[in-house]
Amino acid sequence: MAFKEGTGVPADSPAHDALHDVVIIGSGAAGLTAALALAEARRVLVLAKGSLTGGSTAWAQGGIAAVLDAGDTFEDHIRDTMVAGAGLNDRDTVEFVIERAPASIDRLCELGVPFNREEHALHLTREGGHSHRRIVHVDDATGWAVQSALLKAAEAHPNITLLPGRTCIDFITDRHREQFSAAGRVWGVYALCEETGRVERHVARATILATGGAGRVYQFSTAPRGATGDGIAMAWRAGARVSNMEMMQFHPTCLYHLEVKNFLITEAVRGEGGHLLHPETGRRFMVDYDPERMELAPRDVVARAIDDQIKRFGLDFVHLDISHQPADFVRGHFPTIYEKLLGLGLDMTRQPIPVVPAQHYTCGGVVVDLQARTDVPGLWAAGECTESGLHGANRLASNSLLECFVFGEAAAQDILARWDTLEAPPAILPWDESRVTDSDEEVVIKQNWTEIRRFMWNYVGIVRTTKRLERAASRIELLKREVEDYYGAFRVTTDLIELRNLLQAAELIVQSALKRKESRGLHYTLDYPALADEAKDTVLVP
Ligand code: FAD
Ligand code: SIN
Repeated sequence: MAFKEGTGVPADSPAHDALHDVVIIGSGAAGLTAALALAEARRVLVLAKGSLTGGSTAWAQGGIAAVLDAGDTFEDHIRDTMVAGAGLNDRDTVEFVIERAPASIDRLCELGVPFNREEHALHLTREGGHSHRRIVHVDDATGWAVQSALLKAAEAHPNITLLPGRTCIDFITDRHREQFSAAGRVWGVYALCEETGRVERHVARATILATGGAGRVYQFSTAPRGATGDGIAMAWRAGARVSNMEMMQFHPTCLYHLEVKNFLITEAVRGEGGHLLHPETGRRFMVDYDPERMELAPRDVVARAIDDQIKRFGLDFVHLDISHQPADFVRGHFPTIYEKLLGLGLDMTRQPIPVVPAQHYTCGGVVVDLQARTDVPGLWAAGECTESGLHGANRLASNSLLECFVFGEAAAQDILARWDTLEAPPAILPWDESRVTDSDEEVVIKQNWTEIRRFMWNYVGIVRTTKRLERAASRIELLKREVEDYYGAFRVTTDLIELRNLLQAAELIVQSALKRKESRGLHYTLDYPALADEAKDTVLVP
């Protein structure tokens, strides 16, 4: 098999075989940060499912946390992060990320991200759990500005090839070598070309996973359609440990609307003075749950309070009200949300916004160290698909994009530093389709997908019990057999790949939740309401 070393383009071999220096799976903040850092010395391929802007990065609203104000300190940001994370965070990781935040913001400014400014300084907004104003932002659409700037730089770089429309299926490992080996190193990825239906081999010395979270495992989520936990499931199948998957973050304020199901109302609305109100009495109910921090308590506290109000009073939603602020102030700070709501017939400068909690962020994921290395040789990971130790039992608002920048960079620097010790890839077997046919029952996928998302919402949501978790576990066992049979019999499609991964992610969440015999951060169970003395990660080993 002929490969053209380091070119990143097909050689004399069949068109679906290509050899790259580094393959990155995911074109969000983590993937593109790594690509730009690597591209100074290496040729990089970035693969994305669907479009290049289809991840959560483009949807981020509130902003990026960084200590930039003279009155703020790293120690305060570290403390806020660990208070939100209920002590499950790894202090070394928290320091590592927070101390690198100002440099990450400088880099984004160099790339042209038009952060809001006040006079000459960056404007800092405030979000729940932060003891200072420290969130840099681009109005209420920070993610789109960041995604656009990173993409523009990547598109302009001669060493970066961007390949959208590729759904990665599984890593290429030693067992896919022409000369079989059981060692388990990763050598790139098998990816489905969504247009041709062909499975391609993208082979590389180093592979970086940056596939985002698994939010769509829940019926209601603020995350985009493709957040199906693909990377977490792929890494698990390749032998990587996965940690703290029970720590699923629910954002307190997702718009409640019969047609628009997953529109986030940024936490910055509360940061800029928004109140949460009982929709019938108008009472500011956070006073009953966290009288000191009120609406700016960490997300787990606020989401549980709303869930309690909804269940206790039989409500469909609660109100988020910022109409007491001047209309110009509201329109100026939240232009995207204002326009979106106005289009739905709701004027947030005069009316309260109906909101409900919805799944928002996957705190757990593939275990990585400070170099972004996973357990599997040849595989690095960064961003929401990982568990780096930063977020602990609950992510502090606007710490996620930051983690993507810091760990995307860390992965790139580690690969560059170790380049000469990384072996050149061996010849790899093509994807085996000899025993599969085209599916004749697509309905199975839709049925199972809907079922998983429903029982995860009802049994593995904001408030849990062991009985509900066991019910979810037994549903998963049944579905696993069905999905594996289906996967083994039919040609892969993006929907089938996602269903298989969604189910794997659901299993990891439920198994982790069953292991935790306490309530900590985002994991709240009526059977173990107390906090254990020692904060311990839930680590699952494949
Ligand atoms: P993503 O940006 O999600 O990108 C994942 C990439 O992986 C995509 O390119 C996708 O196509 C690709 N991919 C996935 N599966 C496959 C596959 N099988 N094959 C090929 N490619 C694949 N965080 C903050 O810090 N501040 C905020 O203000 C903020 N607001 C948010 C608002 C919303 C509505 C949401 C949903 C999240 C928000 N977050 C925020 C969280 C933050 O946006 C994400 O955690 C972060 O953007 C994740 O970046 P990432 O690079 O890890 O993954
Ligand atoms: C938000 O804007 O409320 C989301 C911020 C985040 O997820 O960090």
